[in-house]
Amino acid sequence: MTHLVAPSLLSADFGKLKQEVEMINNSQADWFHLDVMDGVFVPNITFGFQVIKVIKSYATKPLDVHLMIVQPDRYFEQFRDAGADILSIQYEAVTHLHRNIHAIKELGMKAGVVLNPHTPVSVLEDTIAETDLVLIMSVNPGFGGQKFIENTYNKISRLKELIVKKNSSAMIEVDGGVNLENAPKLVQHGADVLVAGNTIFSSPDPTETIKLLKK
Ligand code: DX5
Ligand code: ZN
Repeated sequence: MTHLVAPSLLSADFGKLKQEVEMINNSQADWFHLDVMDGVFVPNITFGFQVIKVIKSYATKPLDVHLMIVQPDRYFEQFRDAGADILSIQYEAVTHLHRNIHAIKELGMKAGVVLNPHTPVSVLEDTIAETDLVLIMSVNPGFGGQKFIENTYNKISRLKELIVKKNSSAMIEVDGGVNLENAPKLVQHGADVLVAGNTIFSSPDPTETIKLLKK
């Protein structure tokens, strides 16, 4: 399987959200990556259900929703109703990870688990077989446009080993500081999905940049 590209709308121009969604619809991108932040789990606040519903009404590709919020399980159903296809929760924000993974799947979404840069992949040993996607944070969550953390390559390799060992079909997604230089190396190490915000939206031709990230 060739890798997927998921543009992060965090770096999009929200004054022309509809056009930004249409640009992604008409590009080679595979998913929409939507970053929900609550100002508690991370030091930033973004958007919630209402904005996701608007994006869903124009989007022709799956919505990959990344929750950077405390107690995410309080809102799983509302994110499903807003249009989330893949719902990812931060490992560090939940106590009952196994229960949460199943709750997301029972609502008909794909379940993802996100690891902060300091969280080792070994914590997923007993849940990886039931997880649809693991998102490795390659920056500390909260903001777009940060510098890529080099340890991510090792982490992807270790995660890949765990996935094979446990016979899991989980996809590996990488988020933060992804650019045209590190993208090929991330894919070589085993990344299945590349998230990119700043690299796409601050480039002169976002559609072309998506195409280059797909190569
Ligand atoms: C950061 C978010 C990312 C962010 C990535 O907390 O999870 O999805 O938008 O942005 P870039 O690609 O600019 O690092
Ligand atoms: Zn994200």
